[in-house]
Amino acid sequence: MAQAMSFSEKGEKMELSQLKIPTHVSIIMDGNGRWAKSKGMPRTYGHSKGADVLMDICEDADALGIKYLTVYAFSTENWSRPETEVKTLMFLFRKYIKICYGKAMSNNTRVRVIGDKTGLAEDLRESIRVLEEDTAKNTGLQFQIAINYGSRDEMLRGMRRMMQDYKEGKFALEDVDESHFSSYLDTDGIPDPDLMIRTSGEQRLSNYLMWQHAYSEFYFTDVPWPKFDKAELVKALEAYTSRDRRYGKVKA
Ligand code: IPE
Ligand code: IPE
Ligand code: MG
Repeated sequence: MAQAMSFSEKGEKMELSQLKIPTHVSIIMDGNGRWAKSKGMPRTYGHSKGADVLMDICEDADALGIKYLTVYAFSTENWSRPETEVKTLMFLFRKYIKICYGKAMSNNTRVRVIGDKTGLAEDLRESIRVLEEDTAKNTGLQFQIAINYGSRDEMLRGMRRMMQDYKEGKFALEDVDESHFSSYLDTDGIPDPDLMIRTSGEQRLSNYLMWQHAYSEFYFTDVPWPKFDKAELVKALEAYTSRDRRYGKVKA
């Protein structure tokens, strides 16, 4: 264990066994393009490296006892990137979903894709459908990949379905509370993230899980996603361990 002891945000020494393990970790995997560029490589090289890093982080998260992991892979806004980059990303998703299938089956991982799948190519949707269906009963890591995901888009899609159900008399206005609305989101049944990690320096949500992150702890690191590893994940968990989650209350 390379990282048996290290320092928390407050500079206290902390052992792995002292870490508070969040139930749900969400990640904005940012910085692939800038990292590749800094190495004199095309941005797409960074995406390919980023996909490899994600495989390792899934296993590390599982080994550390994290139950839910949700990663941002492609936003509704990312379609406005150059066509060649978008095409490469779609090619990588196809490849990744296939590799992910084998890994998920052997690691007992359940995989779900959140986002608007209707915006994806038919063949990609089909492999996602099979991946979701065949891993649905797996009880290990619950792994969500956000593809063609935007929080505003998710809420509007949910709202349309909810209004349709209302029109059909499926519920009364008084039934609409937070949990009722949540059930119309792509994350239905998944607890809210406890810890949100964003790599590569930017400190914004970029339309990611805005409803679900209402009370999450945020951790930002300058490390670009292709350089993120287990030691960096542990650093985020150390920061999380030293946070005081008050949920609006006065500390007991
Ligand atoms: C994140 O890396 C991956 C996607 C958004 C698909 P970026 O591609 O945003 O890399 P930077 O932020 O431009 O370096
Ligand atoms: C957010 O990163 C989306 C993903 C990581 C998939 P972006 O790189 O697209 O976000 P902005 O443009 O910096 O806000
Ligand atoms: Mg970026």
